[in-house]
Amino acid sequence: MDAPIAPIAPAVSGCELYAVVGNPIAHSKSPFIHARFAAQTGEPVEYRHLLAPVDGFAATVRAFAAAGGRGLNVTVPFKLEAHALAKTLSARAEAAGAVNTLRFDTDGLRGDNTDGVGLVRDIEANRGVRIADARILLLGAGGAARGVILPLLERAPAELVVVNRTAAKADGLVEQFSAAAHKAGSVLTGGGPEAIAPHAYDIVINATAGSLDDSLPECDERAFGAGTLAYDMMYGPQPTVFMRHAVALGAQAADGLGMLVEQAAESFFVWRAVRPATAPVLLELRTILAASRS
Ligand code: ATR
Repeated sequence: MDAPIAPIAPAVSGCELYAVVGNPIAHSKSPFIHARFAAQTGEPVEYRHLLAPVDGFAATVRAFAAAGGRGLNVTVPFKLEAHALAKTLSARAEAAGAVNTLRFDTDGLRGDNTDGVGLVRDIEANRGVRIADARILLLGAGGAARGVILPLLERAPAELVVVNRTAAKADGLVEQFSAAAHKAGSVLTGGGPEAIAPHAYDIVINATAGSLDDSLPECDERAFGAGTLAYDMMYGPQPTVFMRHAVALGAQAADGLGMLVEQAAESFFVWRAVRPATAPVLLELRTILAASRS
């Protein structure tokens, strides 16, 4: 039985209503990012935080629709429920098995997932690192890893190795995406930490939850070299333990703040068919994050 949900106020006059839904949600930077996108593009978007009870996701989505809501970003812990609730799914949401973007179409809820494309754009456009022909090591095999495999393969890397503490989960992802890898002409392999080759990769992506509790996923140090981009999907005021480790081994390190802004821009595009500029918003967020250190 769903928990009762308080009615949601409609958008201010002349605007269309969007929100990020999660639990907890107050920390989310999405309202800040989308307010900047709306101001920049002149789109009539009002974007809010929306707290849903852990047992009240579907009821909250219904209340939001009743208030005239047009779209939602979905975050922890509701991405799987959003996937189940959507009437139709984009190919990338289907492959991810999770939905971070809902659009309220006249014929029902459309589920999409913009996380993977956010990662790809941050690596290619913001960091200037080529994914085509690259040798990539992806650490982790949970939801975060699964969500980025198809968008990475669509850029045709030479090799993608999926490595996880629990090898069977990595094996499962390799099996799931083998047809996509074949289509891209990429070699897709995986397993436990022993599947890591003793050479420097072009890109090492940390999609484990390790950075949340300052732990480093097991990884052969030879995977990091001077030409390696070590990308942590997490971010914070300080570089993560994974980033510090990679830099100590001579690699370049990046956090996931750019991915956050890029996935938001892709969601904005899904809803509004307008692509905002991400660089000024990323710069502003970076400055705010740095200031929060002191
Ligand atoms: P998410 O949806 O954020 O990916 P998840 O599905 O719980 O979260 O997956 C977490 C991932 O981080 C898993 O790959 C997990 O490894 P296991 O499958 O072996 O549990 C990985 N992970 C979490 N903490 C880790 C640690 N300290 N070292 C290595 N891997 C870790």
